[in-house]
Amino acid sequence: MNDLLIYCKQLNKTFKSEAENLEIIKNLDLSVRKREQISITGPSGCGKSTLLSILGGLDRPSSGTLEVAGLDLVHADEKLLAKYRAATVGFVFQFHYLLKDFSALENTMLPAFMLSGKKSDAESKAKELLNAVGLSDRLHHLPAKLSGGERQRVALARALINRPAIILADEPTGNLDRQSAMMVEKLLFDMADSLDTTLILVTHDTNLAARAGTRFVLTDGSLVPE
Ligand SMILES: Nc1ncnc2c1ncn2[C@@H]1O[C@H](COP(=O)(O)OP(=O)(O)O)[C@@H](O)[C@H]1O
Ligand SMILES: [Mg+2]
Repeated sequence: MNDLLIYCKQLNKTFKSEAENLEIIKNLDLSVRKREQISITGPSGCGKSTLLSILGGLDRPSSGTLEVAGLDLVHADEKLLAKYRAATVGFVFQFHYLLKDFSALENTMLPAFMLSGKKSDAESKAKELLNAVGLSDRLHHLPAKLSGGERQRVALARALINRPAIILADEPTGNLDRQSAMMVEKLLFDMADSLDTTLILVTHDTNLAARAGTRFVLTDGSLVPE
């Protein structure tokens, strides 16, 4: 499969403490093609965020194989992992993590400016994305002056600014009212479609999960097709 983007085989993640070893991810296999849209559901505490952290290069597996976009994430050094996080992945979390003293525009352009050092280029890309998420009239608002749904739309624009191959979304609508959640949900899928971005979405909203073409339940540390 030459459009294979993520290859994950016999992946394990164990959290060790003095009292016990917590085996959270167990012999997990996953292959993801470019542009595929995947949802992962499962009860609280089953390891969904742990798995996304590993796929996003924020944490490492205890053992197994994990290759994303041709990069071996198990053996990559810290510098390579940092570059991977900045260039290949876009994260959207339940909480927006926008910088409170920066405007919507500045928050969105920051990852592009940090990667390329080109300010005007970063700014024009950010404006384009904020326009696409319906916020062209909120460019100079601080996060505190935005609604919850608007903040998540800025977070989505920020996640997309470096044109990542993958969006990793961890309960992206978990903190929103129904109407805002529906808008963010639609944008997430539409933007992934239009930018040819692979989407991996963790949610316990079954309606949201159902929109993904490929659906898994994280069960006993592994992914079971739904
Ligand atoms: N850094 C850590 N050290 C020890 N245990 C952890 C750590 N991170 C997560 N866990 C444990 O792993 C389990 C899975 O956590 P998590 O991936 O956040 O679950 P989910 O996102 O599905 O709710 C939980 O029991 C949690 O307490
Ligand atoms: Mg979680």
